[in-house]
Amino acid sequence: MSTIGELARQQTELSKEQTVHLGNLVSEWGMLADLCFSDLMLHVPTEGNKWLVLAQVRAATGQTLYLVDRVGALAEAGEESLLTKAYNSSIIVEDEIFMEGIEEDCRMMAIPVVFEGKPIAVMTREWSRRTGRQPGELERTYLDMFDRFAEMIIKGDFPFAGRVADSSVAPRVGDGAIVLDADARIRYASPNATSALHRVGISANAVGQTLAELGVIDSSVRQAFERQEPVVEEFEQTGDVTLLTRCIPLVLSTDGKNEVTGGLMLLRDVSELRRRDRLILSKDATIREIHHRVKNNLQTISSLLRLQGRRLESAEAKAAVAESVRRIRTIALVHETLSREPGDDVAFIEIVRPLLRLVEESLQSPDRPMRFTVIGDGGRLPATVVTPLSVVLTELLQNAVDHGYPEGDGGGTVVVRLNVEDGVLNISVVDDGRGIPAGFQLADATGLGLSIVRTLVTTELAGSIEMRPAMPEELAEVDLELKPGNTGTVIALRVPLENE
Ligand SMILES: Nc1ncnc2c1ncn2[C@@H]1O[C@H](COP(=O)(O)OP(=O)(O)OP(=O)(O)O)[C@@H](O)[C@H]1O
Ligand SMILES: [Mg+2]
Repeated sequence: MSTIGELARQQTELSKEQTVHLGNLVSEWGMLADLCFSDLMLHVPTEGNKWLVLAQVRAATGQTLYLVDRVGALAEAGEESLLTKAYNSSIIVEDEIFMEGIEEDCRMMAIPVVFEGKPIAVMTREWSRRTGRQPGELERTYLDMFDRFAEMIIKGDFPFAGRVADSSVAPRVGDGAIVLDADARIRYASPNATSALHRVGISANAVGQTLAELGVIDSSVRQAFERQEPVVEEFEQTGDVTLLTRCIPLVLSTDGKNEVTGGLMLLRDVSELRRRDRLILSKDATIREIHHRVKNNLQTISSLLRLQGRRLESAEAKAAVAESVRRIRTIALVHETLSREPGDDVAFIEIVRPLLRLVEESLQSPDRPMRFTVIGDGGRLPATVVTPLSVVLTELLQNAVDHGYPEGDGGGTVVVRLNVEDGVLNISVVDDGRGIPAGFQLADATGLGLSIVRTLVTTELAGSIEMRPAMPEELAEVDLELKPGNTGTVIALRVPLENE
């Protein structure tokens, strides 16, 4: 379906400003359709003295005449003369119309839409007397409001310029409508508006009073009357009732002077919506709190292990415990980051950087100075991916240090490269160390480190691992140069992200 802008550009002579005015009207006219219980159509002149239907809206308060969408079609022959009459005379005209396929007796009111003193389109209200609503006070009041907005349309005072963005969230007429007079006194309150007032504890007859006298926050009304433009406002009227209001002033322009003659306030009780918003917010806060506690617990465990490690005699046992402490601290780090982030995903780089620092701190020794750097970015990843990957990364960094650089050999550099391409996260850990031993096969490796890596990457994350000597161009890309005798090592991981 074409937008108003496209249709106007392709099939009419309307200028950009005129199209914007019509766009503003259309973004507001759900309210107008509701007020007149009828379908509204927007017609503009097009080639060959025909009329193009630029937009159409149905009322939420009444029955529609048109089951089909007429946007982009030409007006029916039976409508043309009335449209032309309204357009040429700049006054509202109304008559019976005869439409193909619709037997009921239909009426059409044609309202010229004026912009900068000139008619640019005709808005029509089309309805059938047979299916129309029984007239009552609500019907009379709404129709009267519709007529007053129609008067504003032919004077170019409605829609209001530039103030349309708020109308999408605004309440509709059916949510609750209050009609105000020039002194902002209530002339009429619809049943739904009365119920909303009841909910905030106002059971008195509202008619004749101002909202302020009733104790309702009325700044939207005051602002709308003062600034002569629609104002949307949401406020907590009481501890458990939140009202969303939109006040549209009725403006009468005479001799270039604008006077506010009344207003329409639409209001909706959004307490339930806001309560759910708050619940979601608090769920989010709960998840963060849980991550925070997990982190604390893990830190306690790692401290206990460290204490225990100190009491051990055997160097091998000490090293094993120290490694466990490091693994646990890595997971704690992930939870710490998650506990700061809203939601359950996190920018991977936010984990990788502190992780490198953690490894640097714990593996650094004076006769084996190590440098760790990271290149690229892994984007945002869910916690279910980040936790295992962090453990994997710790193992790989640990291996690079343990096996790439013998003590006293002057240390080296380890680079972590991250990138996401076509839904796959690529992580490579490149070191300029002495390289993997001859005949080494990843599949046969029995150490705990690579076993952890294999399990997490291939089983848990459905990814793949490749381990090989570094190629010269790979080293050049990350600015590494090998010392004589070293071959360097690359461990490349591919982790698919799509079905996460
Ligand atoms: N970056 C590397 N450079 C050279 N050799 C490596 C590298 N990474 C792994 N290796 C080789 O792979 C072997 C297996 O590593 P793995 O992490 O599984 O066990 P480990 O490090 O020996 O013991 P741990 O269980 O404490 O990690 C190592 O012993 C080493 O020979
Ligand atoms: Mg290892």
